[in-house]
Amino acid sequence: MPSDGPAPDLAGPPPGWRVGACLSSRNGTHVHRAEHSDGRVALLKRLDRAAPDPLTRLRFQREARLARLLAHPGLAALLASGEDWLLFEWLAPSLVDRRETFADWAKLVPLLAGIAQTLTYLHGRGVVHQDVKPAHILFRGSRAVLVDLGAAGLVADDPIIGREAVGAEAWASPEQWAGAAPRPAADIWSLARLAGWCAGEAGWTQAPEPLGAILPRCLASDPSARPSAATLLETFRDTGRFAPAPGAL
Ligand SMILES: Nc1ncnc2c1ncn2[C@@H]1O[C@H](COP(=O)(O)OP(=O)(O)O)[C@@H](O)[C@H]1O
Ligand SMILES: [Mg+2]
Repeated sequence: MPSDGPAPDLAGPPPGWRVGACLSSRNGTHVHRAEHSDGRVALLKRLDRAAPDPLTRLRFQREARLARLLAHPGLAALLASGEDWLLFEWLAPSLVDRRETFADWAKLVPLLAGIAQTLTYLHGRGVVHQDVKPAHILFRGSRAVLVDLGAAGLVADDPIIGREAVGAEAWASPEQWAGAAPRPAADIWSLARLAGWCAGEAGWTQAPEPLGAILPRCLASDPSARPSAATLLETFRDTGRFAPAPGAL
């Protein structure tokens, strides 16, 4: 069989799990659906020990560390992990396949509130996701879950700063592209872009107050002029369309 290079050296999956369809394979990180003999399904993320450059390894290790440390209903639960592999709960569908559902502000507000709640949790711990986009919003029932901490930045002492630009072009803030240090305001920009993507042409004009006033501020070119995730969450509550789950924060 033709090959583009040496075969990847991949650890895992853990006993009982079989590697299924590939969801993504790039820069030495391989993401697969995994199936257990008892019928369970999970998401397996593995680092190719043969190929990756030091930065890829550093990023994978950071994602692993964050996955082990963080626990929130708005983040994917880590089921098991090893040195070069992570096994997450399986989540579906993705927001990419549910865009029309959230064109209606009555549905969009709770979605945005759920993501703002997760961002409040991350930002409160000095973690900036840096890659908030529809493909990284998946669902556990009606709960929006933010996945892929592979591009996450740390507000303090980030050894990866300035070594690469992370994020997706259509969603990342201007300062993120300019290589600025990780800052929570970058995720606020991306969240507002995501809201615009869901709301469509009518966009902000039909947003319930006080959202209509605050959402455009999320796209301020000065990051310090953007509201925090916690302020946004309060605003979503003020629209009266979001009842937070008890103990969710
Ligand atoms: N827990 C999960 N359950 C189901 N699908 C997932 C899960 N996590 C990620 N995915 C899907 O796999 C894709 C690749 O995973 P991701 O963590 O984004 O890896 P990377 O971007 O580093 O390749 C995501 O864009 C998403 O569509
Ligand atoms: Mg990704």
